[in-house]
Order: sequence, then structure tokens, then C-alpha cells
Amino acid sequence: MKDVELLAELTERNRQALQGGGPERIKKQHEQGKMTARERIDTLFDPDSFVELDRFKTHRCTDFGMAENKIPGDGVITGYGEIHGRTAFVYAQDFTAFGGSLSLAHAEKICKVMEMGLRAGTPVIGLNDSGGARIQEGVMSLAGYGQIFQNNVMASGVIPQITAIMGPSAGGAVYSPALTDWIFMVENTSHMFITGPEVVKAVTQESVNKEDLGGAMTHNTKSGVAHFATPDDRACLLKIRELLAFLPQNNMEDPPQVEPTDDPKRRDEHLREVVPADPNKPYDIRDIIHSNMDNHDFFEIQEHWAKNIVIGLGRLDGRTVGVLANQPAVLAGVLDINASIKGARFVRFCDCFNIPIVIYEDVPGFMPGSMQEHGGIIKHGAKLIYAFAESTVPRITLITRKAYGGAYIVMSSKHLRGDINLAYPNAEIAVMGAEGAVNIICRNQIKKAADPETERSRLIADYRVKFSHPFRAAELGYIDEVVDPADTRPKLIQAFKMLANKQDTNPPKKHGNMPL
Ligand code: HXC
Repeated sequence: MKDVELLAELTERNRQALQGGGPERIKKQHEQGKMTARERIDTLFDPDSFVELDRFKTHRCTDFGMAENKIPGDGVITGYGEIHGRTAFVYAQDFTAFGGSLSLAHAEKICKVMEMGLRAGTPVIGLNDSGGARIQEGVMSLAGYGQIFQNNVMASGVIPQITAIMGPSAGGAVYSPALTDWIFMVENTSHMFITGPEVVKAVTQESVNKEDLGGAMTHNTKSGVAHFATPDDRACLLKIRELLAFLPQNNMEDPPQVEPTDDPKRRDEHLREVVPADPNKPYDIRDIIHSNMDNHDFFEIQEHWAKNIVIGLGRLDGRTVGVLANQPAVLAGVLDINASIKGARFVRFCDCFNIPIVIYEDVPGFMPGSMQEHGGIIKHGAKLIYAFAESTVPRITLITRKAYGGAYIVMSSKHLRGDINLAYPNAEIAVMGAEGAVNIICRNQIKKAADPETERSRLIADYRVKFSHPFRAAELGYIDEVVDPADTRPKLIQAFKMLANKQDTNPPKKHGNMPL
């Protein structure tokens, strides 16, 4: 065969591969408001940077007439490209080819890019759109899933792993996304569940549609399985690009630094007004976060779930920081089961990838009640303690108002190796709020008083003067500095600069035994 004939064959093979499952199925994909796998890849990567691998790989199944039914690439497009000029690997399931279902060959392609991403030290992004295990292959496809799960776990904490659910994701297939760092879902077109509505009906008699069972908003508001919901494929892919801009390529690197365009000494006198004098009045902690971050930019993560804690990423003087904040505007910022889980996982993510953390604290304590106790608040709250206590990245805590009881300790206090602990002058650092404290320790005194209510008010006011401020903690060295709210941004930037070369370690161990 001459070179020219080989080139013609290559052209023809490429033409076939680029067709995926053919024009009819591509049309159906578009009618559902979904991009094809190739269109998604083009949107995700910088222009002309994508290099495809294994374009001609096919399955090896011969049952059910599959020997004659082959599509080059076997329902998944894999390779690498650049995002903001930095390499990332991708696999994008092609629903137009065998419904994106996973054969052993399809799994091998995914595993190849996962392993290459791990060796090269680059993020791996999965764009999922699949009918699940390739039914014609049976246990071979299950073996493929198993290998993917194993690779997910080996890569965890070494390279960022991101999954976008852009179509169906059912059965055990959901566990690969769940093992990755962040899950994006597209509204109305993506669904994740262990068993679909028909099986739910047959087993439990419950009638539920697929949107309520496992749609984007279900997993973003109710289960907390997903971290982002976007209106369409394009928005989803652009959001992934935005997230990656904050992250290092792997656990051996620091996050990328950008040329700062905001004054590191910028003060904000408006911050003196944000925290209400009345400790029972809510306010939005994001006002303070936005004011502090470079150019007021804050990239919030998981904004629809456990809203009493806010997590996300921003930059201080061009350097990435993780932000974790109690949110007094929701449930007074109390720590409950979901907030503890959300916060703990975020702290561990930042610690894996060398991202310093700023903690904004205004917390009345842990949520009381039998719902929380029976749900295991003890075990889940312990996750947050564990995550902070084992983390070695620089941590700065700022107490904006309340820091009561166990929650004071949990929120990266000095006692859990917090590096710098700041407080606003109106901060209250105590075992509990003044009213609760007086009701317990002065019960008899109040009972015996001629006018119990006047006595109670006097004692509460007295307690406030004695304990409801940051100075007792500052005298003990538990607070490093009491700061003017207007100076928050410069104070944070100075402290992180001082901590830039921080080194800390934990005792050698195989791994700890986190309360899961
Ligand atoms: C082989 C599949 C497939 C599968 C879809 N297709 N799922 N082929 N294995 N799992 C094929 C269809 O035959 C069809 O081929 C094409 O993909 C498009 O599918 P449609 O049904 O026409 O599309 P749609 O109406 O949009 O429905 C999508 C769907 C449905 C809801 C995903 O296809 C479906 O229910 N599929 C089966 C889902 C499932 O039960 N999978 C196994 C889950 S268990 P043609 O040639 O007609 O275009 C599992 C275990 C994993 O995954 C365990 C891991 C540990």
C-alpha cells in the first residue's frame, strides 16, 4: 500500500470517527439542548489545543450482533488539551454512540487518560453522558467501572478531578463522579441516581419523576451530592474553566499566582457597618468576603446546599485562597450536620492542594435537637474538627461576631493549630451567649431576687461587660490581634504573606481514621 493510499485511509477513518453515532443521533442530541461530546471538548479547551487519543479504539464484544456494530472511539472521546494555557486530560462520553454506554474498551480509554493525568500531574475532567454499563458486555463493563473507581481513589488528593454530569448517570456509574473533587450538573438535562424512577416504583411503590429523584437542583439543594448547577452545557464548561484557574495542577505545586490588579492595602470603612450591633440580627457574610477579595471576586462553591456555611475560592494579592465562613443570614450561621460535612470536605480539598484558608467565624454553636443528635451531629461535627486539626496549609481565622462554645474551638481556633487568629472589637468569645449563661449560672440568684426580670437583665448586661468581647481571649494569646473591620483586607494579605513559606507536618501514619 502506498503512502498516498494510507493517507486516504487515515482521512476516511477520521471522517467516520468524527461522525460519532451519525447525523440522526447528533440531531437528537441537539434537540435535547445538549452539545455533542466534541462540541463540549471544543468549548472546554483553549482553541486548537485538544489532542485526541485512541480515536480508533473499538469494543471487542461479539455477542448480540456487536461484532458488526462498531463505532470508532467506542462512545467516549479522550485526550488532553490546555485550559488557560495549562494541560488537562479529559474524557467525554458520546451519547450518540451506543448511548455513551461503558464497554471494557471504553473504560480502558478512560483509565488511560486518568493514568496519564496522574503521571503528568495534571487535572482530569470527566464529561459524563451515558446509559451506564454496556448491557451487551455484562460483567466486562463492570470490571471497567471497578478499574475507574480504583484510579479515582489513587488520583484523589494528587491531581484535581472534576466531573460534569451532562446527561444520564445511573446505577454504579454515579460512584466515579462521587469519588472526584467536584461535581457539576446541567439543569434539566442531567440526572444521577442509583436506581431510576421505574425501579424505585417497583421496590418501594414511591412515584417520583427523574428530575425530583436526581436532577441538578435535587443534588444541589437536597442531597449535597453536586456542587454546581448550570443552565446549559456551555455555562457548565466555562464554569469548569473558571474553577481550574484557581487550582494548582497537582499536590506538589502551589496554586497559580496572577498579576494583582487590586491594591493590597485597600481599606473599606463600610465594613464597620456590616456586622449589626445587635447580636441577634442577621447579615450576609458574603458582603465581608467580597470586600476582602481581589477585585471583590468570590467564586462560591455549593451555594445551594447547607447555606449556613459558605465555601469558595478567591484571591488575595493575586494568590488563591480558600474561604470558609459561617453565614449568619441562614440559621444564624449555626453548625449542623450538613454544614459540618460541607466545611470539612472543603478544608481537606484545600489542604490537599496547598490552598491557604481564610475562615470567617460568626457561630452561635452546634444545632440542638433530636433530629441532629439522631442524625449523628457528634460524628459529623467531629469531621470539621478533624479536617482543621490535620490540615497544614496556612489558616487565618477572623471572628466577626459570635464564637461560642465548641464551635469556637472547631472553627480553626489557635487550639487546632490556627496560624493567625483575628477578631473584630465587637466579637464575643465565650462558652455561650450571655442570656444562656446567666440563665444557668445565676438561676438561684434570679429566683430569689425581688424583681427577677430586672435582676436577669442586670446580670446579662454584667456578663456581657465581663465576657462578650474579644479582649479576654486576646489577653490569653488565643486572639493574635483585634482589628478594625476597615483594615480586614490588608491584615489578611499581610498575614498570608508572612505565612507563605509555612511548613508543618503530621506524625507518619498510613492514614488517619476520620469519623466518616
Ligand atoms: C447499551 C445502550 C445503553 C446501555 C442506552 N443504550 N443505554 N446500549 N448499553 N446501557 C443505547 C440504546 O440502545 C440506544 O441505541 C441508544 O443508546 C440511545 O438510547 P435511547 O434509549 O434511545 O435514549 P433515551 O431515550 O434518551 O434514553 C436514555 C436512557 C436509556 C434513559 C439512558 O437508554 C436507558 O434506560 N438505558 C439503560 C440504562 C441502564 O439500565 N443502564 C445500566 C445501568 S446499571 P440505538 O442503537 O437505538 O440508538 C449500571 C451498572 C454500573 O450501569 C455498575 C458500576 C459498578
